[in-house]
Amino acid sequence: MRVVILPTEVEASNFAGQFITDYINNNKNPIVGLATGGSVLLTYEALINHYKNGMLSFKNTITFNLDEYIGLPPNHIQSYRNYMNQKLFDHIDIDPNNVYIPECFDENFDSASSNYEANIAKHGGIGLQLLGVGSNGHIGFNEPTSSLQSRTRVKTLTKNTLSKNARFFKPHENQPSLALTMGIGTIMEAKNILLIGLGKHKSKAVADVVEGPLSAFCPGSALQNHLNATIVLDKLAASDLKLYDYYLQTEKMKTKYNC
Ligand code: GLP
Repeated sequence: MRVVILPTEVEASNFAGQFITDYINNNKNPIVGLATGGSVLLTYEALINHYKNGMLSFKNTITFNLDEYIGLPPNHIQSYRNYMNQKLFDHIDIDPNNVYIPECFDENFDSASSNYEANIAKHGGIGLQLLGVGSNGHIGFNEPTSSLQSRTRVKTLTKNTLSKNARFFKPHENQPSLALTMGIGTIMEAKNILLIGLGKHKSKAVADVVEGPLSAFCPGSALQNHLNATIVLDKLAASDLKLYDYYLQTEKMKTKYNC
């Protein structure tokens, strides 16, 4: 695992934006896995800026989102499809036919899940997966005790996740308690993974992901088994890491010796 600690949210997000830009620019047919939530918003702003400055085009990029709520009508304001349109897709040159977001409007969960997996496989697998992390260590909507080998399927959301995400819903709005999410096994097949953690409220989850035991109780800890996982953090999110100074030193050496 590469752990990159930067002073501020903006610097960590700019690092993530540059990382994704480099991946897209260095690949003929980039396949990017995308995430939703608050942690990736500044990263998306950085990508939009790169596109506007002519440093990046999404013309050949195919995207697969991690997850989507179940029970919201198509294009509901709180759907992750709508989030992605508003926060990224409406501002860049991506072909809408190249955008995949899990969806299930007819309760045929199994076929929606297997079709999603089949689409990822058909395109040759995800090249770079962007992730946030829940304060309980979830990635995608893989809640604690999800199998570390799980595939795309329906998950029931925990009280913790529902209360953390309630801020996005108006008081009268129905907040779904189910989601269709890529599994941990699906995420682990991405060739590269970039997880971004921002803020003090993520510091315990980040420490569990990076330094805790490999455990289904902290789904993000599965990334310890990935060969190309980069964790980018602001100082606050990194503040519970035992080897904080070591990670800073490692990055200095990486710059000095280009290794
Ligand atoms: C959400 C999403 C995840 C996201 C995580 C953290 O529920 N399903 O993809 O990474 O929880 O969210 P946030 O970045 O808003 O803290």
